[in-house]
Amino acid sequence: MFADHRVLVGVSGGIAAYKVCQLVSDLIQSGAEVRVVLTSAAHRFIQPLTLATLARHRAYVDEDFWVAHAESAKPLHIELGQWAEVLVLAPLTANTLAKLAFGLADNLLSNVVLASDSPVLLAPAMNTVMWEQETVQRNVHLLAQTARFHWSGPDQGLMACDTTGVGRMVEVAELLPHVESLLWTKGTRDLQGKRVLVSAGGTREFLDPVRFIGNPSTGKMGFALARSAYHRGAQVVLVHGPTQEPLPLGMENLAVTNAHQMHELMRKRAPEADFVVMNAAVADVRPRSYSPAKIPKKELPSHLELESVPDILQDLAQKRTPGQCFIGFAAQTGDIQEAATAKLERKDLDFLVANPVDQPTGGFGQEDNQAILLRRNGAGRIVPLVSKLELAHRIWDFVLRPV
Ligand code: CTP
Repeated sequence: MFADHRVLVGVSGGIAAYKVCQLVSDLIQSGAEVRVVLTSAAHRFIQPLTLATLARHRAYVDEDFWVAHAESAKPLHIELGQWAEVLVLAPLTANTLAKLAFGLADNLLSNVVLASDSPVLLAPAMNTVMWEQETVQRNVHLLAQTARFHWSGPDQGLMACDTTGVGRMVEVAELLPHVESLLWTKGTRDLQGKRVLVSAGGTREFLDPVRFIGNPSTGKMGFALARSAYHRGAQVVLVHGPTQEPLPLGMENLAVTNAHQMHELMRKRAPEADFVVMNAAVADVRPRSYSPAKIPKKELPSHLELESVPDILQDLAQKRTPGQCFIGFAAQTGDIQEAATAKLERKDLDFLVANPVDQPTGGFGQEDNQAILLRRNGAGRIVPLVSKLELAHRIWDFVLRPV
């Protein structure tokens, strides 16, 4: 998604500036063109040379702002502001945040932000007491009312001042998908005010405390759907099975282990959702009995008695209220279109995303995926192999604008 896209990274003066090296490096490796602007406080923490080397382009500092531009060129802040498709301000200090809230322009970075119309992603980083100051929160509130500004974090955790709390800059792994989303949507919040319920990952149906029936789902696709919805302005509830993947920020994350727990939570949260996205790979069966003590190897049955688990999606769709939209997934092998269409009708869904799981590319645990998007009574759409986040956006594009 980054190839040939132009991202400007604005760094202000906080210790989290060290994380920006990784951000710039990852952006470049993903194919983006990157420009970096440092405030005077930022380059006390990090050398412009480091960022320039990673960005394959000189990094700009305030001294560059005060140099007369060549006759044929535009002033630097105008040129950079117009060049950038997305601006990422990471780390964002309380000082730069206040400048943005009040539209101040007293250094290169704040001038670049004002000289641009592109979406701005803010990744604040400061001590918890600073973040929670009424004055800072007032500025956060002001910026939150401005459509152009998008937020990533702050996260919770240990900070450089040896305290634990809210104020840590988000990890690059969280920031990068948000930049990808803004490049895709151009900052449009077409899910603003909508409530989205997503299920992700696989369920585990335990036979005893150490053995279970499950599947290789990692949760990546469901997390991409939840993230993309959040990036498009939705209020997201994510119900997920066991996973090693980093949990997305900015939403309510609810962990479950088995299909029964997932069913209970989904049933509880579905009535308030505008969109129900059932991406989880629910184990279709569970052992008929559960032993709370580990079954010794010698006593393991040679045949396992199984019972089916309820079809969560079908149950939720049957209880739908007018205006709710149900999106299902179908892991298919062979002729996927016919089987998927039958599933869409059987489960009474509005949309169904069919994934081939017998291809060498895409599917469980992979970074990329391909799919056929189907809708009730309408033409479908084929999505070739793309990143899971891009597929998630293409699904939202299809759901919100099917024709
Ligand atoms: N699903 C569900 N509850 C189940 C099984 C599946 O909610 N017990 C949902 C999945 O999350 C997915 C859709 O139903 O959105 C289709 O899942 P899939 O495994 O492809 O189909 P099945 O209904 O299990 O049918 P089959 O295994 O015969 O293909």
